[in-house]
Formats: sequence, C-alpha cells, structure tokens
Amino acid sequence: MTTPRVENEAFEALLHEQRRFSPSEAFVQQANATAELYAEANADPEAWWAEEARRLTWSTPFTKVLEWDAPFARWFSDGTLNASVNCLDRHVEDGRGEKVALHWVGEPEGDRLAITYSEMLAKVSKAANALTSLGVQAGDRVAIYMPMIPEAMVAMLACARIGAPHSVIFGGFSAEALADRILDADCRVVITADGGFRRGVAAGLKVQIDDALKLCPDVDRVLVVRRTGQDVTWVEGRDRWWHEVVDPQPSVHEAQAFPAEHPLYIMYTSGTTAKPKGIFHTTGGYLTHTATTHRYVFDVKPETDIFWTAADIGWVTGHSYIVYGPMTNGVTQVMYEGTPDAGGQDRWWRIIEEYGVTILYCAPTAIRTFMKWGDHLPASHDLTSLRLLGSVGEPINPGAWMWYRTHIGGDRCPIVDTWWQTETGGIMITPLPGVTATKPGAGMVPFPGISADVVDNDGASVSNGQGGLLVITRPWPGMLRGIWGDEERYRETYWSRFDGVYFAGDGAKRDEDGDLWLLGRVDDVMNVSGHRLSTAEVEHAIVGHPAVAEAAVVGASDEMTGQAIVAFVTLKAANQVASGGEAALIEEIRNHIAQVISPIAKPRQIILTPDLPKTRSGKIMRRLLRDVAEHRALGDVTTLTDPAVVKMIDELMASHGEEE
Ligand code: WT7
Repeated sequence: MTTPRVENEAFEALLHEQRRFSPSEAFVQQANATAELYAEANADPEAWWAEEARRLTWSTPFTKVLEWDAPFARWFSDGTLNASVNCLDRHVEDGRGEKVALHWVGEPEGDRLAITYSEMLAKVSKAANALTSLGVQAGDRVAIYMPMIPEAMVAMLACARIGAPHSVIFGGFSAEALADRILDADCRVVITADGGFRRGVAAGLKVQIDDALKLCPDVDRVLVVRRTGQDVTWVEGRDRWWHEVVDPQPSVHEAQAFPAEHPLYIMYTSGTTAKPKGIFHTTGGYLTHTATTHRYVFDVKPETDIFWTAADIGWVTGHSYIVYGPMTNGVTQVMYEGTPDAGGQDRWWRIIEEYGVTILYCAPTAIRTFMKWGDHLPASHDLTSLRLLGSVGEPINPGAWMWYRTHIGGDRCPIVDTWWQTETGGIMITPLPGVTATKPGAGMVPFPGISADVVDNDGASVSNGQGGLLVITRPWPGMLRGIWGDEERYRETYWSRFDGVYFAGDGAKRDEDGDLWLLGRVDDVMNVSGHRLSTAEVEHAIVGHPAVAEAAVVGASDEMTGQAIVAFVTLKAANQVASGGEAALIEEIRNHIAQVISPIAKPRQIILTPDLPKTRSGKIMRRLLRDVAEHRALGDVTTLTDPAVVKMIDELMASHGEEE
C-alpha cells in the first residue's frame, strides 16, 4: 500500500491560503440544519439516528436501534417497512399525488415527460405485479441494465416493493463484465432496454445482454423496454417486451412490509483484485441514512425545490440521491438521459433554466469539462434559480471548486463537497449549508452522527496539519452489510487494517483548523472521471489479449479526469511488432479492454515495453511506474532486479508523448 500523498500541488497552496466562505445570512435563516444538530447528534448518535428513522413510514415500529457485533451491524432490526411505500405511497396518501416526481429529459430534443407521484406509484405497482407474474419472489435477485429512462427507477422501486434485491449494472459495462455480475449474484431475471441514446446515437444494450447471457444459462426471463426502436434479436420464451408484460397489469399493488435488515440491493464496485465486489445494502438503515443526508446536506424543501443529481442511476450516487433519498423525501427531480454535450455544450444550463433547477449535484470531472468548454456557455443562461451546489465522486481541485462557485453558483450558492462510497451507502463527510464554513477543495467535517478520523499507519489519530488514512470509527445506518457471498473478503477488505474501525481506502489530511481534505485512494483502486476501476481488473483484461504477455496498470493524475489509466504492456515473443505496427496493436488492445470491461476502462496511454520493473520477489513495482507515468523524478530503485528497465520505460514514455 502506498502512503497517501497530496495529489495536486494546488491543494497544498490552498491549505496555506486558507480561503473560507462563511454561511450566508440568507442560508442561516432558513436552513434545515442548525449548529445544534452536530452537538445533539454527536452526544448520542444512536438516539439521533433513531429519531431520524422515525420520519420514515414503518409498518412495525422498531424498538431496537443498533446491534453491533463487529464488523456486522444491524439497525432497527425489529422494525418492518417497505422502501417503495416510503418513496411513493406515503406521499400519495398525504395528498401529494399530483406533485411531479420526475421531470424526465431524454437526449433527443423535445423528448420529455413529467411524471407525478401518483403516476409513478401506478407504474411501479404494475411493474411489481409483472415481476410477481414472472415468478420473482422476495429474496430473488434481479439484474437491471438500463439507460437513464424513468423505467430504470420504476424497475428498481418495483423490485424493492416485492423484496427482490436489485443489482443495477451501469449501462457502460460490456458483456463479460455484465456476465460476471449476473453470475455472482445468481440473478435469474434481467430487466433491460433495446438501447439508449448517447451523443445522438442509439447505443445497444440488449445486444450486450444477449452476449452476456450466453455465459449465464440460469437467466430465464428478460424484460425489454423499447426505448430507441432499434432492431434486437429475440430468444423466444426468455425475452418479453416490457410494454406487453407490464402495461396490462393492475395499477394497484398491496405492498408487504419487510424487516429493516432485508437486503435492498447489491451494487458491484471495483476492489483491489480483478473480481468486483457485490456491496449489499439493507432497507431501514439505508433509507434513514439517504433520506437524512439528503434533507440536511442539500437542505431540500420538497414544496419548492427542483433537485437534480446529474449522475447515472447505474452507480451508487444514482441509487442514493436520485432514487432512495429524494423519493423518500418526496422532492421534484430532473432526470436527464444523455451526455452533457448532446444538442450543444450548454445542454445542462438549458435544462437548469427551463426547469428552474434549485439544487445541482455532480462530479468534478463534469465541472472541469465545462471549464474547458468555456465560461460563455453558462453565462448565456439564467441560472439564478440555483441555490445550492454539490460535488461528489472524486477530489475536487480548488480551481474547479472556485469556477463552480463563480460561474455556476453566481457567488451565491454554497458548495457541498460530499465524500462517501458505494460501501457507505450515503454521504459521510460534508459541510452543511447554513452551518459549516466551506473551503475550496475540502470535505470539511463528518455528517452529524458519523465519526471519522485520520490515522497514521499504526492507527493513531494524526494531529492538525498532518495527513494519514481515513477511517470511520462507529457503525452508521447506511453502511454496507457485507460483500455478497464473501464474508471473509468483507472482514479482510474493510476491517482488518485497523481493529474494529472501517478503513475506507482513502487518504485524508486534517488541516490546521482540524478540517478534512479527502485526497483519493491509497490502494490499487483508480478513480477515473469519478468512476471506480481496479488496476487488477484492467490488467486482467489486457492479458486476455492473445498478443500480451504481461501488463501493469497504474492511475496517473490527469488534469481533466482526476486520474487516467496508464498501462505498461509486454508482448509475447512471437508478437513483437516492428516499429510502426505498434499503433495498430495498441488500438486493438484498447478495444479489447472496452469489450471486456467497458469503454470507460480504456487507458489514456499504453506503453509497449520489453520488460516490467520488478522487485527481487517478482512483484511489479507499480508505485515506480506511477512516478514514471506522472513524469516524476524516479526515487529509490535499488530493490529492482534491473534498474535499467525503469530507465528504459521512462525513455519510452518520453518518446511516445501523451496520446489523446
Ligand atoms: C471513492 C468511492 C460517492 C459516490 C460516487 C463514488 C472517491 C468520492 C469524494 C470526494 C474525494 C471522493 C473516494 C472514495 N470520492 N467522493 N468528495 N472527495 N474523493 O462512489 O465508486 O464507491 O467511489 O470515490 O476515493 O473512496 P465509489
């Protein structure tokens, strides 16, 4: 494991500059959160979380709060509830059925829908009835592979309604990655679409499912939403159109309550090995965590806010802050199908203007892209409806933070930089608008009721001004309940580094005021444009190419994407290419990776090299390769079997320059 280091010199500069923004008077007056919240929550976190949990609709109220048998937590375990009822029925029953739940914006211009809470409930009820008619029962896992269309949310909430944990797989993943995930959770039913629109093109999804299912013989039902109208191949008896199965169903569905610890979903995420981990979440604690953080961090006022999380439902950000948190709080949302440049590089700003979006939540990579596209684009739209901005998924560099504040937030909107993970279920470290001062690039403080620390390699808290490893020192309601089917890996990955505390895999720094700065991963996990990828997974894909002998992959800092993938590849003797033939082979390897994992896993650079630097025990020296990839002066190479190898790679890098 590498020691955490500050990724960006600008961070250091800012740490010294200590620019801070105090909460504005306007926000202090009306914010959902108050300064007392911290004191109250931290004096008795369990009691505080229990109070928040009671805002949910329970069929059987809980009497137990936390049962902690480290590293296994149970929250509110004797209570029963239904997640879908919390997201839908209770709003309708309270007379808010006519309120718009979703303003959906498709990628093709003019393709839009407004769906009320009553309509959403009817759709989800039909889908729940349909799943039941297909034989899906509580506890069965259902895979969902969808574009950003309302049916994606409908499918998730229908699964939740009948107690069938969903496993949503991001639409960017390819057939092999899909198959791995479907097999790991033993899903028998898949919900997908013919395809989705991306950059004006009708990309295929069903075609990937068809390929994946060649490896998954136990899947016997595939429900297909018609989105693009493209041709699809059909397996009789297995494949059914969504509209033929779902539409004729009754639009009422009596939901059954499930125990708070009933599994709600599985979400696969990359770890340090080639095999992705099925992170699973349960119902009561997760809903409490997502709804509570959504209420305070985004200061939502369901009567007036138009909330927009510009993320894909296929990642945890979409699960927690498009589906479960916002829907539990009964807010009106915008959901957008396409890429930020579809129909012009000002697409987002047009959407904000048209719908009067008040809260925007997105990733730093998007912000950096908008910076590159130019200030004039947001400037030509009326963005004054915005009152709060959020950032998530990767460290935000102070430059991007300031641009976001000035050019999108009009110097008026607080920015909440929210640190969390698939595993944490919801936001863990963040400022609270109206309460916490903010600093460009800093996550600031743990959310009320969350206990975090920065520790050194021995687990001792570091003092102010020091860096170290981020740990969470008490169980929290939204925490993962395990890795699907692999208890040992769960203990090993998160709970073995330090006794009894959760190790997140991130480096952090505590500044002179004691505020937290999140610095990114310290393990072999990369973060590319806010997407989490494992070096081992990409290496595994590369060595699957017939010409390749060995591969070493590192995440190198990248101005635009945070980190970028750089791969060092050696070829099998018979495949050495004459200079000139290299470019074609490199392109082939890149496409191979896209096919095996996803286009998002394509390296920025692939360096063909005759050899890889290894220690005497044969371990590839990744840290050193990372230095090479980032053009840093090479450190100590004395443990290398052959220091000349590194020098040679360094020269190769220099002669190749940067691709793309
Ligand atoms: C990893 C988790 C959080 C939902 C989307 C990503 C990095 C996340 C921040 C932030 C610095 C951040 C961490 C974390 N990360 N948010 N605000 N500042 N780093 O979820 O795919 O599970 O990735 O993303 O390195 O460990 P994920």
